[in-house]
Amino acid sequence: MVTVVVGTQWGDEGKGKVIDYLAEKFDIIARYQGGANAGHTVVVNKKKYIFHLIPSGILYPKKICVIGNGVVIDPVALLEEIQYLKKNGIEVESKLFIAENAHVTLPYHKILDKVEDKFRGKGQLGTTGRGIGTTYTDKFGRIGIRVIDFIDEDVFMEKLKIALELKNYLFREYYKEEILKPEKIFDEYKHYRKEIKKFVINTAVFLNEKIEEGKKILAEGAQGTFLDIDFGTYPYVTASNPISGGACIGLGISPKKIEKIIGVAKAYTTRVGMGPFPTEIKDDIGEKLRKIGNEFGATTGRPRRCGWFDATLVKFACIVNGIDEIILTKLDVLTGFEKIKIGVGYKYKGEIINFYPFSSKIFSNCEVIYEEVEGWEDDISDFKSYKELPKNVKKYIEKIEEKIGIKIAKISTGSARGQIIEKN
Ligand code: IMO
Ligand code: MG
Repeated sequence: MVTVVVGTQWGDEGKGKVIDYLAEKFDIIARYQGGANAGHTVVVNKKKYIFHLIPSGILYPKKICVIGNGVVIDPVALLEEIQYLKKNGIEVESKLFIAENAHVTLPYHKILDKVEDKFRGKGQLGTTGRGIGTTYTDKFGRIGIRVIDFIDEDVFMEKLKIALELKNYLFREYYKEEILKPEKIFDEYKHYRKEIKKFVINTAVFLNEKIEEGKKILAEGAQGTFLDIDFGTYPYVTASNPISGGACIGLGISPKKIEKIIGVAKAYTTRVGMGPFPTEIKDDIGEKLRKIGNEFGATTGRPRRCGWFDATLVKFACIVNGIDEIILTKLDVLTGFEKIKIGVGYKYKGEIINFYPFSSKIFSNCEVIYEEVEGWEDDISDFKSYKELPKNVKKYIEKIEEKIGIKIAKISTGSARGQIIEKN
């Protein structure tokens, strides 16, 4: 059966650490959406690994990792990651499988991603520049190139020419960028085609066979609920469906096979790039969170915007994802704050709103209704049991549970594998 791990905020909730922690009890770890825009950090034996495309379970010698059809794959980023792992003594061959029907990110997607965002002017999104939105656009525009097409020389050349016909028109006539030659890309990617071929299979058939055999699959979401193209803070979102339902589409498994859904929530909130963020803290406290929490993007290095925990958002995430339990991360970062606030609702033009509004006008201009709890001074990073935690820490956790209506099952208090407390 399948367990899905999803982000309940704007990404960077600590999904990498959670996946690495949970992976031990699973046979297969599979990514279902997003691409190299993800930055999943795992720390093992004091060594830090950052994954962009490869599932965060790859560090275990006997686990199978799958990059599903819902992911957009940049062969350059993938090969870089494989080499980086090999250099660190981590074997990838025979452990990694890539979906034949996943779409491939090519140079023009990356160029267009950056140029388009610049041309958006005031509507700039602050994308990661990894060619994510532009690859998905081509997928839906039906001029995308899938992995199976990419590794077939004839098909690749044919499809590349068709795609470039249109892209070059845009580059030449509209963006005033240099045009790209299909032959050049074809040659440049020869090496990538050869290297990637050995990982390519029909992952939908593979995963369903494994489910039949009774194997356990962990589906690793990238980004988070509020970056979801349908449910996030549109247009300040990514171009895929990070929510749990995305796992069925992005892996080719039936909703009937999903057994459990785990939400990952950071004990406060962060966001990278543009877009509304009601609980954002723009003063010294926000700066302090960024510094203590080391809130800098794992993919782009950009400073993350920081703010208080927004229970209204996480509550909505619990509903649309069907979350069974929450893993609360980075709670240790909140040590030393005199008071800690929790957003519990919004006020707009005198009216109280108790849910996450889809209207960007309301969400961008609302006032947050906060509740406050007392902070704590104790360093909690080495606590092993929930019972022992300081009173105020438990009060904060229980307040969050009360506001989101879902139980917190585990609490992460640091980046290392062992720094996690089981609540029950
Ligand atoms: P993980 O998996 C946080 C943000 C970008 C930008 C918006 C659109 O590490 O949680 P895109 O390049 O996807 O078109 O950019 O989405 N974004 C993320 N923010 N964590 C991520 O991934 C993100 N992936 C994309 O900053 O605002
Ligand atoms: Mg990240």
